[in-house]
Amino acid sequence: MRTLLVILSLIIGLPAGTHAQPTKELVVYCSVLNEWCTLMVQEYERATGVKVTMTQKGSGETVAQLRAEAANPRADIFYGGVGDQHMEAGEAGVTVEYKSPMLAELHPWAQRQAEQTGFKSVGIYAGALGFVWNTELLAKKNLPEPKCWADVVKPAYKDEVQISNPASSGTAYVALATLIQVMGEEPAFDYLKKLHANVNQYTRSGPAPVRNAARGETTIGINFLHDGVAEAAAGFPLKVQAPCEGTGYEIGSMSIVKGGKNLENAKKWYDWALTADAQNLAKKAKSFQVPSNRKASAPEQMPKMESMKLIDYDFQKYGSGVERKRIIARWEKEVGSLPK
Ligand code: G6P
Repeated sequence: MRTLLVILSLIIGLPAGTHAQPTKELVVYCSVLNEWCTLMVQEYERATGVKVTMTQKGSGETVAQLRAEAANPRADIFYGGVGDQHMEAGEAGVTVEYKSPMLAELHPWAQRQAEQTGFKSVGIYAGALGFVWNTELLAKKNLPEPKCWADVVKPAYKDEVQISNPASSGTAYVALATLIQVMGEEPAFDYLKKLHANVNQYTRSGPAPVRNAARGETTIGINFLHDGVAEAAAGFPLKVQAPCEGTGYEIGSMSIVKGGKNLENAKKWYDWALTADAQNLAKKAKSFQVPSNRKASAPEQMPKMESMKLIDYDFQKYGSGVERKRIIARWEKEVGSLPK
Protein backbone atom coordinates (compact mmCIF):
# COMPACT_ATOMS: atom_id res chain seq x y z
CA MET A 1 0.00 0.00 0.00
CA ARG A 2 2.79 2.38 0.98
CA THR A 3 4.73 1.57 -2.22
CA LEU A 4 1.60 2.30 -4.19
CA LEU A 5 1.23 5.67 -2.43
CA VAL A 6 4.84 6.57 -3.17
CA ILE A 7 4.43 5.64 -6.84
CA LEU A 8 1.16 7.59 -7.05
CA SER A 9 2.70 10.62 -5.40
CA LEU A 10 5.62 10.53 -7.83
CA ILE A 11 3.22 10.40 -10.76
CA ILE A 12 0.91 13.19 -9.60
CA GLY A 13 3.56 15.25 -7.85
CA LEU A 14 2.28 15.00 -4.26
CA PRO A 15 4.64 14.51 -1.32
CA ALA A 16 4.79 10.95 -0.03
CA GLY A 17 4.43 10.14 3.66
CA THR A 18 1.91 11.06 6.27
CA HIS A 19 2.36 14.84 6.25
CA ALA A 20 -0.31 16.68 4.32
CA GLN A 21 0.64 19.53 2.01
CA PRO A 22 0.40 22.84 3.92
CA THR A 23 -2.78 24.52 2.76
CA LYS A 24 -3.78 28.17 2.61
CA GLU A 25 -7.19 27.58 4.16
CA LEU A 26 -8.85 27.12 7.53
CA VAL A 27 -12.47 26.37 8.45
CA VAL A 28 -13.57 27.68 11.85
CA TYR A 29 -16.82 26.82 13.62
CA CYS A 30 -17.19 29.69 16.05
CA SER A 31 -19.47 29.79 19.11
CA VAL A 32 -18.68 33.19 20.62
CA LEU A 33 -20.46 36.36 19.52
CA ASN A 34 -20.27 37.10 15.82
CA GLU A 35 -18.32 40.37 16.28
CA TRP A 36 -15.56 38.51 18.14
CA CYS A 37 -15.48 35.62 15.61
CA THR A 38 -15.18 38.10 12.74
CA LEU A 39 -12.37 40.09 14.34
CA MET A 40 -10.41 36.90 15.12
CA VAL A 41 -10.77 35.78 11.50
CA GLN A 42 -9.64 39.16 10.11
CA GLU A 43 -6.56 39.27 12.33
CA TYR A 44 -5.57 35.67 11.67
CA GLU A 45 -5.94 36.15 7.91
CA ARG A 46 -3.88 39.33 8.06
CA ALA A 47 -1.09 37.70 10.06
CA THR A 48 -0.88 34.44 8.10
CA GLY A 49 -2.30 35.01 4.63
CA VAL A 50 -4.51 31.96 5.23
CA LYS A 51 -8.11 32.25 3.98
CA VAL A 52 -10.59 31.47 6.77
CA THR A 53 -14.15 30.27 6.27
CA MET A 54 -16.12 30.87 9.46
CA THR A 55 -19.58 29.74 10.57
CA GLN A 56 -21.10 31.08 13.80
CA LYS A 57 -23.47 28.81 15.74
CA GLY A 58 -24.36 27.99 19.36
CA SER A 59 -22.18 25.41 21.10
CA GLY A 60 -24.85 22.67 21.20
CA GLU A 61 -25.57 23.11 17.52
CA THR A 62 -21.88 23.05 16.65
CA VAL A 63 -21.33 19.75 18.44
CA ALA A 64 -24.36 18.28 16.65
CA GLN A 65 -22.89 19.43 13.33
CA LEU A 66 -19.42 18.04 14.12
CA ARG A 67 -21.01 14.70 14.97
CA ALA A 68 -23.08 14.70 11.78
CA GLU A 69 -20.00 15.48 9.68
CA ALA A 70 -17.67 13.04 11.47
CA ALA A 71 -17.27 10.79 8.41
CA ASN A 72 -16.27 13.74 6.24
CA PRO A 73 -15.30 16.68 8.46
CA ARG A 74 -15.61 20.18 7.02
CA ALA A 75 -14.24 22.16 9.98
CA ASP A 76 -10.72 22.42 11.38
CA ILE A 77 -11.32 24.42 14.58
CA PHE A 78 -14.20 24.60 17.06
CA TYR A 79 -13.59 28.00 18.69
CA GLY A 80 -15.50 29.20 21.75
CA GLY A 81 -18.72 28.04 23.33
CA VAL A 82 -19.15 26.37 26.70
CA GLY A 83 -16.52 23.87 27.81
CA ASP A 84 -19.11 21.21 28.64
CA GLN A 85 -19.82 20.92 24.93
CA HIS A 86 -16.13 20.69 24.05
CA MET A 87 -15.83 17.86 26.59
CA GLU A 88 -18.72 16.12 24.92
CA ALA A 89 -17.12 16.59 21.49
CA GLY A 90 -13.89 15.04 22.82
CA GLU A 91 -15.77 12.12 24.29
CA ALA A 92 -17.61 11.61 20.97
CA GLY A 93 -14.24 11.38 19.21
CA VAL A 94 -14.79 14.33 16.86
CA THR A 95 -11.86 16.37 18.19
CA VAL A 96 -8.18 15.51 18.64
CA GLU A 97 -5.54 15.83 21.33
CA TYR A 98 -3.13 18.76 21.01
CA LYS A 99 -0.70 20.07 23.62
CA SER A 100 -0.08 23.68 22.77
CA PRO A 101 3.26 25.20 23.81
CA MET A 102 1.11 28.10 25.09
CA LEU A 103 -0.47 26.04 27.91
CA ALA A 104 1.99 27.30 30.53
CA GLU A 105 0.78 30.90 30.01
CA LEU A 106 -2.79 30.04 31.00
CA HIS A 107 -4.69 30.30 34.27
CA PRO A 108 -5.01 26.98 36.16
CA TRP A 109 -8.74 26.71 35.32
CA ALA A 110 -7.93 26.79 31.60
CA GLN A 111 -5.18 24.21 31.97
CA ARG A 112 -7.57 22.03 33.97
CA GLN A 113 -9.97 22.02 31.01
CA ALA A 114 -7.08 20.69 28.89
CA GLU A 115 -6.12 18.03 31.42
CA GLN A 116 -9.71 16.91 32.03
CA THR A 117 -10.26 16.37 28.30
CA GLY A 118 -6.99 14.53 27.70
CA PHE A 119 -5.77 17.71 25.90
CA LYS A 120 -8.63 17.56 23.39
CA SER A 121 -9.66 21.09 24.38
CA VAL A 122 -8.40 24.08 26.31
CA GLY A 123 -9.98 26.99 28.20
CA ILE A 124 -9.97 30.33 26.40
CA TYR A 125 -12.23 32.33 28.75
CA ALA A 126 -14.53 32.09 31.77
CA GLY A 127 -17.85 33.72 32.61
CA ALA A 128 -20.62 33.33 35.19
CA LEU A 129 -24.34 32.86 34.69
CA GLY A 130 -27.13 35.06 36.06
CA PHE A 131 -29.94 37.49 35.34
CA VAL A 132 -29.93 40.40 32.95
CA TRP A 133 -32.85 42.81 32.90
CA ASN A 134 -34.10 45.88 31.12
CA THR A 135 -34.24 48.54 33.86
CA GLU A 136 -36.80 50.69 32.05
CA LEU A 137 -39.23 47.81 31.45
CA LEU A 138 -38.83 46.53 35.00
CA ALA A 139 -39.60 49.98 36.43
CA LYS A 140 -42.53 50.46 34.04
CA LYS A 141 -44.01 47.13 35.14
CA ASN A 142 -43.31 47.95 38.76
CA LEU A 143 -41.37 44.72 39.29
CA PRO A 144 -38.58 44.25 41.86
CA GLU A 145 -35.04 43.49 40.67
CA PRO A 146 -34.51 39.70 40.56
CA LYS A 147 -31.71 38.76 42.94
CA CYS A 148 -32.17 35.03 43.52
CA TRP A 149 -33.20 31.94 41.56
CA ALA A 150 -36.21 31.91 43.90
CA ASP A 151 -37.33 35.30 42.53
CA VAL A 152 -37.68 34.57 38.82
CA VAL A 153 -40.27 31.82 39.38
CA LYS A 154 -42.62 34.15 41.28
CA PRO A 155 -46.00 34.66 39.53
CA ALA A 156 -45.29 38.41 39.24
CA TYR A 157 -42.73 37.61 36.52
CA LYS A 158 -45.21 35.65 34.34
CA ASP A 159 -44.07 35.84 30.68
CA GLU A 160 -41.28 38.26 31.59
CA VAL A 161 -38.34 35.81 31.42
CA GLN A 162 -36.41 34.47 28.45
CA ILE A 163 -33.82 31.67 28.36
CA SER A 164 -32.36 29.67 25.49
CA ASN A 165 -33.15 26.06 24.64
CA PRO A 166 -30.64 23.63 26.22
CA ALA A 167 -30.61 21.36 23.16
CA SER A 168 -29.14 24.09 20.94
CA SER A 169 -27.48 26.38 23.47
CA GLY A 170 -24.62 25.82 25.87
CA THR A 171 -25.80 28.74 28.00
CA ALA A 172 -29.10 27.02 28.81
CA TYR A 173 -27.33 23.73 29.38
CA VAL A 174 -25.05 25.40 31.94
CA ALA A 175 -28.20 26.86 33.54
CA LEU A 176 -29.80 23.39 33.80
CA ALA A 177 -26.63 21.83 35.19
CA THR A 178 -26.25 24.75 37.62
CA LEU A 179 -29.78 24.42 38.98
CA ILE A 180 -29.29 20.69 39.49
CA GLN A 181 -26.04 21.36 41.37
CA VAL A 182 -27.53 24.18 43.46
CA MET A 183 -30.82 22.43 44.38
CA GLY A 184 -30.52 18.71 43.63
CA GLU A 185 -32.13 17.14 40.54
CA GLU A 186 -35.74 16.63 41.66
CA PRO A 187 -36.16 20.14 43.17
CA ALA A 188 -34.42 21.58 40.10
CA PHE A 189 -36.99 19.98 37.77
CA ASP A 190 -39.86 21.22 39.96
CA TYR A 191 -38.26 24.64 39.74
CA LEU A 192 -37.88 24.45 35.93
CA LYS A 193 -41.59 23.61 35.59
CA LYS A 194 -42.47 26.73 37.57
CA LEU A 195 -40.01 28.76 35.55
CA HIS A 196 -41.71 27.51 32.36
CA ALA A 197 -44.82 29.52 33.33
CA ASN A 198 -42.71 32.69 33.37
CA VAL A 199 -40.74 31.99 30.18
CA ASN A 200 -42.07 33.86 27.15
CA GLN A 201 -39.68 32.12 24.71
CA TYR A 202 -36.90 29.54 24.63
CA THR A 203 -34.46 30.99 22.09
CA ARG A 204 -32.18 28.93 19.85
CA SER A 205 -29.05 30.89 20.72
CA GLY A 206 -27.71 31.53 24.23
CA PRO A 207 -27.06 35.29 24.00
CA ALA A 208 -30.43 36.02 22.27
CA PRO A 209 -32.37 36.78 25.52
CA VAL A 210 -29.87 39.53 26.36
CA ARG A 211 -30.23 41.09 22.94
CA ASN A 212 -34.01 40.85 23.23
CA ALA A 213 -33.96 42.42 26.71
CA ALA A 214 -31.80 45.25 25.36
CA ARG A 215 -34.40 45.91 22.67
CA GLY A 216 -37.35 45.69 25.05
CA GLU A 217 -38.67 42.35 23.76
CA THR A 218 -38.36 40.62 27.12
CA THR A 219 -37.89 42.10 30.59
CA ILE A 220 -35.43 39.52 31.97
CA GLY A 221 -32.94 37.11 30.42
CA ILE A 222 -31.10 34.20 32.02
CA ASN A 223 -27.65 34.56 30.51
CA PHE A 224 -23.94 34.78 30.93
CA LEU A 225 -23.47 38.07 32.73
CA HIS A 226 -20.74 39.26 30.34
CA ASP A 227 -23.30 39.18 27.50
CA GLY A 228 -25.46 41.59 29.52
CA VAL A 229 -22.49 43.82 30.29
CA ALA A 230 -21.66 43.96 26.57
CA GLU A 231 -25.12 45.29 25.67
CA ALA A 232 -25.04 47.70 28.63
CA ALA A 233 -21.68 49.01 27.35
CA ALA A 234 -23.35 49.55 23.98
CA GLY A 235 -25.78 51.93 25.74
CA PHE A 236 -28.82 49.71 26.40
CA PRO A 237 -30.61 50.04 29.78
CA LEU A 238 -29.51 46.71 31.25
CA LYS A 239 -28.41 45.54 34.69
CA VAL A 240 -26.95 42.18 35.67
CA GLN A 241 -27.00 40.11 38.86
CA ALA A 242 -25.54 36.76 39.92
CA PRO A 243 -28.18 34.67 41.78
CA CYS A 244 -27.89 34.82 45.59
CA GLU A 245 -28.15 31.03 46.12
CA GLY A 246 -25.03 30.46 44.01
CA THR A 247 -24.36 30.24 40.32
CA GLY A 248 -22.48 28.23 37.72
CA TYR A 249 -20.01 29.35 35.13
CA GLU A 250 -18.52 28.30 31.83
CA ILE A 251 -14.96 27.62 30.80
CA GLY A 252 -15.30 28.77 27.19
CA SER A 253 -13.08 26.42 25.19
CA MET A 254 -11.43 25.57 21.89
CA SER A 255 -10.73 22.24 20.14
CA ILE A 256 -9.17 20.93 16.94
CA VAL A 257 -11.53 18.91 14.76
CA LYS A 258 -10.55 15.32 13.98
CA GLY A 259 -9.88 14.71 10.29
CA GLY A 260 -9.94 18.42 9.34
CA LYS A 261 -8.18 19.16 6.06
CA ASN A 262 -5.95 21.97 7.39
CA LEU A 263 -4.36 20.58 10.53
CA GLU A 264 -1.21 22.72 10.44
CA ASN A 265 -3.23 25.94 10.14
CA ALA A 266 -5.56 24.72 12.88
CA LYS A 267 -2.58 24.31 15.24
CA LYS A 268 -1.35 27.78 14.28
CA TRP A 269 -4.77 29.26 15.06
CA TYR A 270 -4.87 27.34 18.35
CA ASP A 271 -1.47 28.58 19.55
CA TRP A 272 -2.21 32.13 18.42
CA ALA A 273 -5.68 32.19 20.04
CA LEU A 274 -4.02 31.41 23.37
CA THR A 275 -1.68 34.42 23.18
CA ALA A 276 -2.40 37.54 25.23
CA ASP A 277 -2.59 39.64 22.05
CA ALA A 278 -5.24 37.46 20.43
CA GLN A 279 -7.24 37.28 23.66
CA ASN A 280 -7.18 41.06 23.96
CA LEU A 281 -9.20 41.16 20.72
CA ALA A 282 -12.25 39.96 22.70
CA LYS A 283 -12.81 43.22 24.50
CA LYS A 284 -12.10 45.13 21.29
CA ALA A 285 -15.08 43.21 19.88
CA LYS A 286 -17.08 44.06 23.06
CA SER A 287 -16.92 40.60 24.65
CA PHE A 288 -16.11 40.84 28.34
CA GLN A 289 -15.25 37.34 29.55
CA VAL A 290 -12.24 36.60 31.79
CA PRO A 291 -9.40 35.73 29.36
CA SER A 292 -7.45 32.53 30.02
CA ASN A 293 -3.97 33.89 29.25
CA ARG A 294 -2.55 35.33 32.49
CA LYS A 295 -0.97 38.20 30.57
CA ALA A 296 -4.14 39.22 28.73
CA SER A 297 -5.76 42.31 30.20
CA ALA A 298 -9.09 41.58 31.86
CA PRO A 299 -11.74 44.11 30.80
CA GLU A 300 -12.77 46.39 33.67
CA GLN A 301 -16.46 46.16 32.60
CA MET A 302 -16.31 42.44 33.38
CA PRO A 303 -18.48 41.25 36.31
CA LYS A 304 -16.12 40.34 39.16
CA MET A 305 -16.37 36.61 39.75
CA GLU A 306 -14.76 37.00 43.22
CA SER A 307 -17.83 38.94 44.35
CA MET A 308 -20.26 36.14 43.38
CA LYS A 309 -21.21 32.95 45.10
CA LEU A 310 -19.84 30.48 42.56
CA ILE A 311 -20.61 26.78 42.81
CA ASP A 312 -17.91 24.16 42.50
CA TYR A 313 -19.15 23.22 39.02
CA ASP A 314 -18.61 19.54 38.25
CA PHE A 315 -17.28 19.80 34.68
CA GLN A 316 -16.36 16.13 34.49
CA LYS A 317 -19.93 15.05 35.22
CA TYR A 318 -21.87 17.68 33.30
CA GLY A 319 -19.46 17.69 30.35
CA SER A 320 -20.19 14.01 29.77
CA GLY A 321 -22.25 13.42 26.63
CA VAL A 322 -24.29 10.68 28.30
CA GLU A 323 -25.27 12.98 31.18
CA ARG A 324 -26.03 15.88 28.86
CA LYS A 325 -28.26 13.68 26.69
CA ARG A 326 -30.11 12.38 29.74
CA ILE A 327 -30.67 15.82 31.29
CA ILE A 328 -31.81 17.41 28.02
CA ALA A 329 -34.17 14.51 27.23
CA ARG A 330 -35.68 14.86 30.70
CA TRP A 331 -36.03 18.63 30.24
CA GLU A 332 -37.72 18.16 26.83
CA LYS A 333 -40.13 15.55 28.21
CA GLU A 334 -40.99 17.18 31.51
CA VAL A 335 -40.56 20.91 30.85
CA GLY A 336 -40.10 21.97 27.21
CA SER A 337 -43.20 20.09 26.06
CA LEU A 338 -45.49 21.51 28.77
CA PRO A 339 -48.31 23.73 27.49
CA LYS A 340 -48.08 27.45 28.19
C1 G6P B 1 -22.11 33.81 24.01
C2 G6P B 1 -21.22 34.07 25.19
C3 G6P B 1 -20.18 33.00 25.32
C4 G6P B 1 -20.82 31.61 25.33
C5 G6P B 1 -21.72 31.44 24.13
C6 G6P B 1 -22.53 30.16 24.19
O1 G6P B 1 -21.41 33.97 22.82
O2 G6P B 1 -20.62 35.34 25.08
O3 G6P B 1 -19.48 33.22 26.49
O4 G6P B 1 -19.84 30.62 25.38
O5 G6P B 1 -22.65 32.51 24.07
O6 G6P B 1 -23.45 30.18 23.15
P1 G6P B 1 -24.71 29.23 23.11
O7 G6P B 1 -25.55 29.74 21.97
O8 G6P B 1 -24.18 27.86 22.90
O9 G6P B 1 -25.43 29.35 24.41
